[in-house]
Amino acid sequence: MSNKITVIGAGNVGATCADVMASRELAADIVLLDIKEGMAEGKAMDIMQTSSLREFDTRVTGVTGDYQATENSDIVVITSGIPRKPGMTREDLIGTNANIVKSVADSVLKYSPNAIFVIISNPMDTMTYLTLKSCGLPANRVIGMGGTLDSARFKYSLSKALNVPSTEIQAFVIGGHGDTTMIPLIRFATYNGIPVSELLSKELSDKAVADTMVGGATLTKLLGTSAWYAPGAACASLVESVVRDQKKVLPCSVLLNGEYGQKDIAMGVPVVLGKNGCEKIIDYKLNGAEQDLFNKSAEAVRGMNSVLHEMKVI
Ligand code: LAC
Repeated sequence: MSNKITVIGAGNVGATCADVMASRELAADIVLLDIKEGMAEGKAMDIMQTSSLREFDTRVTGVTGDYQATENSDIVVITSGIPRKPGMTREDLIGTNANIVKSVADSVLKYSPNAIFVIISNPMDTMTYLTLKSCGLPANRVIGMGGTLDSARFKYSLSKALNVPSTEIQAFVIGGHGDTTMIPLIRFATYNGIPVSELLSKELSDKAVADTMVGGATLTKLLGTSAWYAPGAACASLVESVVRDQKKVLPCSVLLNGEYGQKDIAMGVPVVLGKNGCEKIIDYKLNGAEQDLFNKSAEAVRGMNSVLHEMKVI
């Protein structure tokens, strides 16, 4: 069991992530930090009151703005910032969230200089890049959480189309974590080893891809704010692979250095997650059409990253 995990932001995503991680006993201690007075304390207490019911030993503590309480964390999950409202894209959030994420990352790093960072704040690929650049951390220690969530949504869409359990589907989403930039790799999707393209009509597989891409936006429209159960659970799975050194392959946003033909950009690709964070990037052999989509996605993410320079946060 890892010693300590900090979650910054006790909103829906941060609290759900802490809840799932506590129920799976991923650390002896989980610290939930928020700037809104009482919020993290309240959510932490609510989670802890389930400990006898769900039988977990993890201690969840909530604090208001007290970074000292996060000292010596092994993993820090950053969910801070505003979520999107109906009609907004994840990219619309950059002006507000870049300043928040930068200051949070700086504060956290002071108390946990060796932590592995998991970034959820949107636009996530750009916030991951910002954390890498502004904190000067090695690439293996900054992991953006988006592809794991998008892949879970892809599996769900495919499971509905095929009428089979989502756990029997293997499927990956790579590229940027945006409605138009993510790339659900239908060619690599299988049902127990059988390519789904052999089991679904073109129309149904196109629909599963399209539903996946607007998965977050669909929920935002329904809920009035962005989703939390799947984002929280996806983050917990990613963290679990690191703290238990499982070496699972999950799509995450990491710094590319020539992989997938891209450099100096954080984007979603399948990576091996173990105790050192991102231990390896799996360089799938994309076909021409997939590589074109990846390049277009990179162009869009790069455009967002350039806003960081304009804002002078990096
Ligand atoms: C989503 C947000 C968390 O996709 O990016 O729901």
